[in-house]
Amino acid sequence: MSGVEAAKRLAARSAVDAFVKNGFKLGIGSGSTVVYAVERIAERARAENLQLTCVPSSFQARQLIIEHGLLLSDLERTPELDLAIDGADEVDDRLTLIKGGGGCLLQEKIVVNAAKDFVVVADYRKNSAALGQQWKKGVPIEVLPLAYRPVQKEIESRFGGVAKLRMAKAKAGPLVTDNGMFIIDWEFNEAPAEGWTKIGMELNNIPGVVEHGLFIGCAKKAYFGNEDGTVSER
Ligand code: A5P
Repeated sequence: MSGVEAAKRLAARSAVDAFVKNGFKLGIGSGSTVVYAVERIAERARAENLQLTCVPSSFQARQLIIEHGLLLSDLERTPELDLAIDGADEVDDRLTLIKGGGGCLLQEKIVVNAAKDFVVVADYRKNSAALGQQWKKGVPIEVLPLAYRPVQKEIESRFGGVAKLRMAKAKAGPLVTDNGMFIIDWEFNEAPAEGWTKIGMELNNIPGVVEHGLFIGCAKKAYFGNEDGTVSER
């Protein structure tokens, strides 16, 4: 296992061990780090006979829950969650996150919002003093396909930077999210002077924007696995 993978695993296991309790209704995030969290949740559920209910935030999360034999639910049957566990692309010193690098963010935000607590699991590369210092691919923004061009233009003219339509890797054409949307990656020039909260609200007000990947004021704690085998908490 590479250093980065070991760091992800360490962070995920530490968060699960600190936060998951018997009877919990869990929101399961997406990405490569969450895989280790689900692995540990399943391990503990078996060893400690924990009764857990898991609500996925993506197709990938749903598959993970099923593969690990955990009880699968949804927000219709389980609208209130005790805890959401998810990865992040970058975490700043105020626990403001950029998410969506893996193409999931809308359902992740809904699941996080339904949870009493939200813990972030990440490797050391995501640990940042300010957004944009570590993650260079911008803020992912999920958009209605028919609106992607005007949304791109409006973001660039209002906030500067470059708003790129994310293309799929395995086919010609744009990446399509689990919700049938496109993703625009807004590569901002510099952190906005007015702060991320205002930018987030303004992004959500652009017609055609479904949701953006700035997660502000929702994370309770972040666990970062380090290269030396330690875990940093924020
Ligand atoms: C999915 O689109 C994301 O929000 C992920 O949570 C984020 O990209 C972190 O993914 P990794 O754990 O794979 O770095």
